[in-house]
Amino acid sequence: MGVGRFITLEGVDGSGKSTQAALLADALEAGGVRVVRTREPGGTPLGEQVRALLLETPPGAMGAVAEACLFAASRAELVRRVVRPALADGAWVVCDRYLESSLAYQGAGRGVGLDVVRAINAASVDGCAPDLTVLVDVPVDVAAARRCAGPDRIEAEGDEFQRRVAGGYRTLMGDAAGRIVAVDGDAGPDEVHARVMRAVRRALG
Ligand code: TYD
Repeated sequence: MGVGRFITLEGVDGSGKSTQAALLADALEAGGVRVVRTREPGGTPLGEQVRALLLETPPGAMGAVAEACLFAASRAELVRRVVRPALADGAWVVCDRYLESSLAYQGAGRGVGLDVVRAINAASVDGCAPDLTVLVDVPVDVAAARRCAGPDRIEAEGDEFQRRVAGGYRTLMGDAAGRIVAVDGDAGPDEVHARVMRAVRRALG
């Protein structure tokens, strides 16, 4: 077994977490760490096909449970084909979204419920939990202003939905006892990156 670490980034749409995932991966690599970058949904050939289905299906054409199952299917592939092999090889994995997204978006946002989403995902993650989850925490109205034009099906849900997602993340923070760390994302990318690095150092050394 290697000494790989698994870090995931989370946040509402427009929180800037994808930018932060890239900056974190760059910084780790600059420090000599071997990094595998990936994202959800996607990250594998099947996962990218599932991503297209999830984001491009017309509004109303997919039920919430089916949606949760598709995210979980993408995740099952990612764990087995990317995350586990990379960690076993001693690399650090930086993943843009993971299980907490399903809990916040489908569990809280769509109202499927956290326990049902956990049950759906149990076989997908198969015990593969992040060492650290960084929640890039931005007020919903700030995130809405940052989102660019041409929203995908889930972004198009609007502010009320994003507020329920943000509430879901807050619930998860309460439950996760330190494994999920919130970083104030309401600042420029470099300042937020410095905060992310401090959080990573504190948690993982
Ligand atoms: P993406 O374009 O990658 O958005 P972002 O850059 O904000 O990550 O699209 C992913 C969308 O899918 C995003 O709206 C969040 C949503 N999502 C879920 O609803 N559940 C999940 O489990 C995951 C991984 C993503």
